[in-house]
Amino acid sequence: MIKVIHNIEDMTLWSNNADKSLGLVPTMGALHQGHISLVRQARSENASVVASIFVNPTQFGDGEDLDTYPRDLGVDLDVLETEGVDAVFVPNTAEIYPEGYDTWIDVGNIADKLEGRLRKGHFRGVATVVTKLFCVVHPNVGYFGQKDGQQAVIIKRIVRDLNLGVTVRVCPTIREYNGLALSSRNVYLNEKEKLDASIIYTALIKAEEMWRHGEIESQRLKSSVENTLRSCQSITAIEYVSVADTKTLNEVEKVDGEVMISVAARIGSVRLIDNLILDGSETTD
Ligand code: PAJ
Repeated sequence: MIKVIHNIEDMTLWSNNADKSLGLVPTMGALHQGHISLVRQARSENASVVASIFVNPTQFGDGEDLDTYPRDLGVDLDVLETEGVDAVFVPNTAEIYPEGYDTWIDVGNIADKLEGRLRKGHFRGVATVVTKLFCVVHPNVGYFGQKDGQQAVIIKRIVRDLNLGVTVRVCPTIREYNGLALSSRNVYLNEKEKLDASIIYTALIKAEEMWRHGEIESQRLKSSVENTLRSCQSITAIEYVSVADTKTLNEVEKVDGEVMISVAARIGSVRLIDNLILDGSETTD
């Protein structure tokens, strides 16, 4: 039977007694195959696996979807049980942020770019909650998705800078058959928008193809992505197209070394993000 734990003390006690190594998969619930891929990876690499479900209010900005964020705890627990997860940490908001809580993890420069530039305070919230989850569960390995590429970079940086001693595993993005990256927020898309949203992946793949054929000028790759996105009427806004170094998240002029090509765009009012890694240190042919 899966153990459902609501408070910090019980969670830490459970972790202390768990067989090691211990893998942690932090989530905000509304689980889909992307989350499940992280759970399976954790299950295959650890003696014990904990998942957490917590819709973290501090990473939502004003006017974002905190109140409407999809929640279905019963279904999520069934899924995690089926996947052989040992324990699920489901704290309430007061458990994580008790009255008077005011300590924050501020990551600095890499958190101010891309998503961080448009979603002020978002990564402060993410960094704080993930650090707290690491302190409560003290896992050996934490599992994160490449889907949220900047988040993964930031979490690696926190672990390094604060010597948290957790190995961070970043797992591939799981997609619909048409290429749309799975996301809990895809429930906000209607059927047509879901089909049209695959243009984001198409645009990224096209740029990747150009790069494989020798194009290393970031500006040309970005223009190609923008043009592909603009060809789709359902795209109502392109918030950014970026080609950035995967460690610093600084924009690069040319692709050499490992870079992340990333997009944030809106389909109707729904904001979607996606990215691909281009490894320019590989030999291309
Ligand atoms: P959430 O959006 O629920 O995602 C939980 C984890 O699943 C993240 O590491 C995310 O990158 C990964 N994930 C989401 N969609 C994916 C996909 N299509 N393929 C592979 N992995 C995917 O990200 C968060 O929650 C929160 O910010 C959190 C880290 C839990 C902190 O609150």
